[in-house]
Amino acid sequence: MTAVLSTHGLVARYGDFQALYGVDTELHAGESVALIGANGAGKSTFLRAIMGLLPVGRDMVRLDGAPVGGTRPNEMVGKGVAIVPEGRRLFTGMSVEDNLRVAIDRAGRAGARGGWTLARLHRLFPILAEKTKVPVQSLSGGQQQMVAIGRALLCQPRVLLCDEISLGLAPKVIREIYAALPEIRAEGTAMIVVEQDVGLAQSASDRLYCMLEGRVTLTGRSAEITREAIGEAYFGVRHAMA
Ligand SMILES: Nc1ncnc2c1ncn2[C@@H]1O[C@H](COP(=O)(O)OP(=O)(O)OP(=O)(O)O)[C@@H](O)[C@H]1O
Ligand SMILES: [Mg+2]
Repeated sequence: MTAVLSTHGLVARYGDFQALYGVDTELHAGESVALIGANGAGKSTFLRAIMGLLPVGRDMVRLDGAPVGGTRPNEMVGKGVAIVPEGRRLFTGMSVEDNLRVAIDRAGRAGARGGWTLARLHRLFPILAEKTKVPVQSLSGGQQQMVAIGRALLCQPRVLLCDEISLGLAPKVIREIYAALPEIRAEGTAMIVVEQDVGLAQSASDRLYCMLEGRVTLTGRSAEITREAIGEAYFGVRHAMA
């Protein structure tokens, strides 16, 4: 079966600094894959490279087997890829609804089609229905994260890239947000979830990749990978044994 999304020897640089060293991954339709790794491992870079936010070689990223590396972000939206970026990056000074309308317009322009509407999003995160006219900066962190996820969903993704959606949130809010992911997957949307909390990453995914200093150091089925293997892959064997 052809992967919906795959990377092949993906390399990425910031000027002279190389952040990714040949990353091979694949994501199948409806699958949830977690990407874990320490600070600076290259997780956000990996998602940004897929999204077309960094220059990468054409063949290094494929959608349904077709090379798309380096395609502009708006075009990637048209092809069914959306990102919930690290730090949310909402438009402060704008209401919840206006933030979401930007995504609806963007998806419309890009030609992305799908079943997500404001009403549907309000069923997924009911609190957003009460806050439509509220400026995003006056929402709690968890509510802002729901807006950021909503903005990505309104781009009608087949592939959703989530960058540390639990960061800085209270456990109860994290549970609420992660509880929404299966419903998103039920649409057939595949997702890559970047997560620092290893237990959460394992429980929310079918398969897992661990990255260290720009390389994949471990991959396998999330339910089968041991804590010990993760520890070694996360910190490097030398560190684990020290
Ligand atoms: N804009 C940038 N310019 C230069 N170097 C960068 C830039 N963004 C990231 N890097 C470097 O690239 C490497 C990978 O960073 P990246 O943000 O992808 O890591 P990460 O795994 O997402 O980390 P975190 O868990 O802290 O979010 C790091 O060494 C980082 O310092
Ligand atoms: Mg990051």
